[in-house]
Amino acid sequence: MSQPIAPNNNEIVLKNGDLIVSKTCLKGNITYANRHFMSIAGFTEQQLLQQPHSIIRHPDMPKGVYRMMWQSLRSGSEFFGFVKNLCSDGSFYWVFANVTPDLDEKGEVRGYYSVRRKPSREAIEAVIPLYKKMCEIEVAGRGSPVIDESMKFLTDWVDSTGLNYSQVALHLYRHGSL
Ligand SMILES: Cc1cc2nc3c(=O)[nH]c(=O)nc-3n(C[C@H](O)[C@H](O)[C@H](O)COP(=O)(O)O)c2cc1C
Repeated sequence: MSQPIAPNNNEIVLKNGDLIVSKTCLKGNITYANRHFMSIAGFTEQQLLQQPHSIIRHPDMPKGVYRMMWQSLRSGSEFFGFVKNLCSDGSFYWVFANVTPDLDEKGEVRGYYSVRRKPSREAIEAVIPLYKKMCEIEVAGRGSPVIDESMKFLTDWVDSTGLNYSQVALHLYRHGSL
């Protein structure tokens, strides 16, 4: 994509049972996209393959969420999270993503893959104010420390629930609220 995509307020809502799947190399460049990914996001395979996954990053998504995701993946853990993504025409769609290290036959990490499902409206509404606060923290400062600060806002909120991050994410996905 040569031009940045201009986001608009048109929401694409996934259907129950829709699965959006992608795989990446260790750096996060897309190596596989399933048909649902291409049709919902409005990209061809050619436009996606070898591109950084941030090609569909929505500006409403806090950087702190992705830092947390990469920290989990690099420590060998899977990651769950609610993600707002951009379509090629500027529309957006929400997903509940599970991102996992992709292991080769020797058990070495050779990349990552993500499977995304439809989140409930209640879960999205629960997450929006948290992400908004994180984005406010991120624009108020500069550089890497501010992303740690925004991540800390999220982890402090999770701690206040008495559950761990994955438990909170899965509970929100299954029940819409805590
Ligand atoms: C398997 C996998 C799937 C990813 N899926 C998404 C995604 O759906 N949307 C997104 O914005 N970033 C996704 N990312 C994270 C991006 O690589 C990137 O970290 C993020 O978009 C933030 O961009 P930045 O690192 O340039 O700030 C994914 C990464 C991996 C490894």
